[in-house]
Amino acid sequence: MPQKPAPFIRQTFTEKDINPFLPPAEQQAIRERLRKLHTGRMFTPQSKEGTIIFPGLDGGGEWGGPAVDPTTGVLYVNANEMPWILHMLDAEKTEAAENYGIAGQRLYRQHCMACHGTDRQGSGNYPSLLEVSTKYTPQTLVEFVNTGRRMMPGFQHLSTEEKNAIAVYILNLKERQEEPYEKQLSPAEKFRKLPYNISGYNKFVTATGLPAIAPPWGTLTAIDLNTGEHVWKKVLGEDERMKALGASITGTENYGGPVVTQGGLLFIAATKDGRLRAFHKRTGALLWEAPLPAPGFATPATYEVNGKQYIVIACGGGKLGTTSADSYVAFALP
Ligand code: HEC
Repeated sequence: MPQKPAPFIRQTFTEKDINPFLPPAEQQAIRERLRKLHTGRMFTPQSKEGTIIFPGLDGGGEWGGPAVDPTTGVLYVNANEMPWILHMLDAEKTEAAENYGIAGQRLYRQHCMACHGTDRQGSGNYPSLLEVSTKYTPQTLVEFVNTGRRMMPGFQHLSTEEKNAIAVYILNLKERQEEPYEKQLSPAEKFRKLPYNISGYNKFVTATGLPAIAPPWGTLTAIDLNTGEHVWKKVLGEDERMKALGASITGTENYGGPVVTQGGLLFIAATKDGRLRAFHKRTGALLWEAPLPAPGFATPATYEVNGKQYIVIACGGGKLGTTSADSYVAFALP
């Protein structure tokens, strides 16, 4: 049990943490859903009834990573506070003799469903696979699944036979009356089964996508590594929809990290609201912010050319329902 530093995010999500800015009926709906779920400490095991994962699959601190100032020993960490819900689903018991089509569906549920959805319909960042039979042959699909692309992981650890079976299922070869569907899996492939699947990566939000939990949803904390004390803490980002409901500073979910400069500034984008901000590294005061062409879900870099210092940020957007883009934007003093 670490004594210090104190946690930089909330540790549990309970009824008293329900978002007070939601209309009363929506708060009630959240309360009723919450009562059916397992919730409590951070390491509450997953369950068939559904378990709250908090501070979320993408938070507290996330893959952007913190920044550290070696001259002061202060660490700067941005974080997310978002409850997610995971359900464990019983894997289907398959008959002794599995054909490619049936094994393909089982393997899809095990390896692909969490991103591409229970019915291959996709969601959020993950594309639908319902129409891919117009783009891929069994062979090109297997090659794609083997290597992956961008946020799609590669599946080199699956056997070729397993990948062939997935291709048969994804490409609807049964509907197309194509022969490989009925082919039997070889005995060696029949036993690689797990007892459970997961229902997918679902955030605990209302029907209109507003978080079930009270703000803040995104924070930035400075922690002195020499003393273990928090030096300052700020809410990171703004949400226009919540502003309209009366919550002025909520923070937003964020992806990407900060960079701290010798001159005393802490730069960070990362927020859904698509802004790059500069904070005073000692006090946490917001000194400057600028809009970006799309959210900068990345960590800024700083560099110098001919005595002039620049801060550059990749503005890819695309996550959290924002528009995608491909700009790099660099800033410098005149
Ligand atoms: C971690 C999430 C994740 C998992 C797991 C995953 N995918 Fe994907 N998949 C993606 C993403 C994201 C893309 C979009 C890739 C891009 O942006 O180029 C994608 C793209 C695809 C495409 C291309 C769609 C098109 O229109 O060209 C196919 C086909 C596909 N996935 C099949 C699978 C199969 C089969 C599995 C299981 C073996 C699987 N995926 C598992 C995230 C995932």
